[in-house]
Amino acid sequence: MPTPRYIHLNGSLVPWDDARIHVMTPCVKYGALVFEGLRSYWNEDEGQLYVLKLGEHLRRFHQTLRVVRFDGNWSDETLTEGLIALLRANEVRQDVHMRIAAWVDGDGLYDSTGPCGLMMAAYGRGSGALEKKVATAGVTSWRRINDTAMPPRLKVAANYHNGRLGILEARANGYREAIFLTPEGKLAEGAGACLFVVRDGVAMTPPVTDGILESVTRRAVLGLLDELGVPIAQRSIDRTELYFAEEAFFCGTGVEIQPISAVDGLELGCPAPGPVTRALWDRYEAVARGRVPDHDDWRLAVYPSATG
Ligand SMILES: Cc1ncc(COP(=O)(O)O)c(C=O)c1O
Repeated sequence: MPTPRYIHLNGSLVPWDDARIHVMTPCVKYGALVFEGLRSYWNEDEGQLYVLKLGEHLRRFHQTLRVVRFDGNWSDETLTEGLIALLRANEVRQDVHMRIAAWVDGDGLYDSTGPCGLMMAAYGRGSGALEKKVATAGVTSWRRINDTAMPPRLKVAANYHNGRLGILEARANGYREAIFLTPEGKLAEGAGACLFVVRDGVAMTPPVTDGILESVTRRAVLGLLDELGVPIAQRSIDRTELYFAEEAFFCGTGVEIQPISAVDGLELGCPAPGPVTRALWDRYEAVARGRVPDHDDWRLAVYPSATG
């Protein structure tokens, strides 16, 4: 996708290159930024673009803004209208990744809570074929941040420094992705995605109290696996259970469903993508793109008619 024409900045659509903030903002100086990553899926047959699970993303956005005590407050209606207007102005007719972010603007210090800026952007980040996403992973020696200091439940940019340390170490060790353990040594999540482990036919994922972001996709995956008849368990998982697994995959808005082939150089039981991961992806993609009528409450149509 070429560079989009417009970006939403503080209530207006501005040319992409004009969306700037000052280097002395608390956002730049201290990482005072809250964000959401979302996706829209293009349905070619219907000529329609669907925003996936906007309501859940906005809910988490508001929850985080409240806890970090930002002054900025935007209603769901304002955010939804702004996002739809942006997608239409850019005439988006393909899969896109989107970002909604609020930050502390002005020239304050690390205790500033305003004024706040708001941006929304939609840009090309195609939805990849499952086979192309297969990745090796390594358990990083950096532990996951936790609720006593840097709550992973809050979607703040500063948390991603932990993710960066892990993934850069994993890459240096020859793996594509990183898996974090909690300080207690239980599986937490990836640098930018949640983790599922399929062992003896049961799809297990760490509970929301084991150092993870409360992921919109994780919740969707739990529902879809249940519909597919796969037994599910939300429980603390030991590192060695991962080595015994038939399958493992990451899930998140960005990575969608990402199969893991090996962890720490140990191949998993099934060649990736394994059958559970495959069936899940087929179902997830069909629902996200509106190829099946089910879960229509997950999708928000961007264009007023089928012809767009
Ligand atoms: C650390 C982390 N965990 C999990 C996820 C998945 O969350 P979601 O499914 O809401 O995109 C993300 C992605 O955004 C993430 O950054």
